[in-house]
Amino acid sequence: MPITVFESTEALGEAVADRLLRIIDANPSAAIGLATGSSPLTAYAAWARRVREAGIDVSAVRGFALDEYLGLDPEDEQSYHTTIHRTVTEPVGLDPERVRVPSGVGDPEREAADFEAAIRAAGGIAAQVLGVGGNGHLGFNEPGADARSRTRVVALAERTVADNARFFGGEVSRVPTRSVTQGLGTILEARELLVIAIGPEKAEAVAAALEGPVTAAVPASILREHPNVHWFLDEAAASQLGGPGGGAARD
Ligand code: GLP
Repeated sequence: MPITVFESTEALGEAVADRLLRIIDANPSAAIGLATGSSPLTAYAAWARRVREAGIDVSAVRGFALDEYLGLDPEDEQSYHTTIHRTVTEPVGLDPERVRVPSGVGDPEREAADFEAAIRAAGGIAAQVLGVGGNGHLGFNEPGADARSRTRVVALAERTVADNARFFGGEVSRVPTRSVTQGLGTILEARELLVIAIGPEKAEAVAAALEGPVTAAVPASILREHPNVHWFLDEAAASQLGGPGGGAARD
């Protein structure tokens, strides 16, 4: 399981973009799993710049977001619809018709089933970009989530609501308390996982995920059961890994 520690988030972003470009080069209609949050931003920026500079045709690429807040209008500034459009679809130049974010309004159970069907129809996800929550969550699969879970409605953990209040003017009361998220079983079916963790507030979750027991208490630990997962860390996120370098390669 490659674990690489980068000196800068820019270098980290370039390395993730390298992987994405290679996958798209091999299959121009590959489905890419897209995470929101701050962790993948330098990767998306690098991907966008390189697509632009090299004139790469991304018109056939498909995108599937990991999750969406329940009850938030897609047009809301903080919805993951808006976030994915602003940080990925638009800058990279993807076709918005080919980028799917689970809907947080309407019939969420139906949406979850349709979303899973759309992933299957696209031939499965070639590479899933992932961030890690401060509590080890993946998407909105909070501690305790079943490793075989599929796309579904879940409640956010208290810590996640508090962590995400920064996107809602610091007001915890404005953060939606439920979401639709790809399940852990859905995530594990992606052929390749690109996991990004940046900053000291991720250090504990990263150490638990990589060096603790594989347990539902730390959703990110189940990634160790995937045959093709690459961790992209900065020094701060890697700081609690044991041993010199903690077995991680330095870029
Ligand atoms: C959020 C999202 C996750 C994201 C994670 C980390 O709650 N639901 O998909 O990966 O938390 O966010 P960040 O990268 O901003 O730390």
